[in-house]
Amino acid sequence: MLLTDEAPMATRADPAFRADVLAGLRLPQKAIPARWFYDRRGSELFEEITALPEYYPTRAETAILHTICPELVGAVGEGVAVVEFGSGSSVKTPIVLNCIEPAAYVPIDISGDFLRSSSATLAKQFPGLPVLPVEADFMKPVPLPAEVADMPKLGFFPGSTIGNMEPQAATTLLAAMRDWLGEGALLLIGIDRIKDTAVLTAAYDDAAGVTAAFNLNLLERINRELNGNVPIDAFVHEARWNDDAARIEMHLKAVRDIRFTIDGHDLSMTAGETIHTENSHKYSDRDARLLLRAGGWTPRQQWCGTDGAFCVILAEARPLPIAP
Ligand code: TRP
Repeated sequence: MLLTDEAPMATRADPAFRADVLAGLRLPQKAIPARWFYDRRGSELFEEITALPEYYPTRAETAILHTICPELVGAVGEGVAVVEFGSGSSVKTPIVLNCIEPAAYVPIDISGDFLRSSSATLAKQFPGLPVLPVEADFMKPVPLPAEVADMPKLGFFPGSTIGNMEPQAATTLLAAMRDWLGEGALLLIGIDRIKDTAVLTAAYDDAAGVTAAFNLNLLERINRELNGNVPIDAFVHEARWNDDAARIEMHLKAVRDIRFTIDGHDLSMTAGETIHTENSHKYSDRDARLLLRAGGWTPRQQWCGTDGAFCVILAEARPLPIAP
């Protein structure tokens, strides 16, 4: 029998992506959640960003992790389970694992695919190390693998990823990490510092245009996956320092009045209007420590490299004191 009315080919579009884009483009300040940056092309461009001359955070943090190894071993001790929030970086995670020689490594990530491939790579690189991935949302703690129940825990959250959250969400996440790891656990976290505005904006608007391509790829992804006709040539990348909120903001700015459709929905923007796509909060010395305390973590040691551009902080989940 000939089937003439077969179901249309399944589209690759993620319904959550579609919903976020359509809702975000109807807001007074248009905004799309940053997690949609990371399709295959976006992830490749992000890797390129981390190697740019202007993008200091990755180099600074990597150098700090190398130099603090002896002190870190002393502070953390033997037999710990390293619990990484995120699938792990191919550069930073091995530095820490080589340094402290943990008893187990537990990466936690919401993306099962990412988690499986990076766990397999790491397991190959560290043959004797139990690698125990957990597929879960950071915000919804589930029990850690039974193998690590009795081990001391060291949480690892590099990359100043905490800075991509609004302070309220960052505090909630830190509190959730405390729930994951338990009282007595340690947390090693990277936090970027407030500094000269020109240095900050250059880090998010490089001369080679890689960060611009990364930002604009979001519009290409919309056209590809959501059947859009967004005129990408009508947009420019913008990185601005919002001093009041102490953050770099990335926007996609329309340079002329435009109309377009996404999945059949009519949308428009006027010249100068922007779509807000990312925040990267920066913290002063005290801000960073206050943020940690607000999330239930007591800072114990911090290392800020030779120029103080970026800091790695070791904090402890101490029993909450009785407030006077
Ligand atoms: N957390 C890092 C930062 O804010 C990395 C990062 C996240 C990033 N999103 C980005 C870097 C967008 C450049 C552009 O710097």
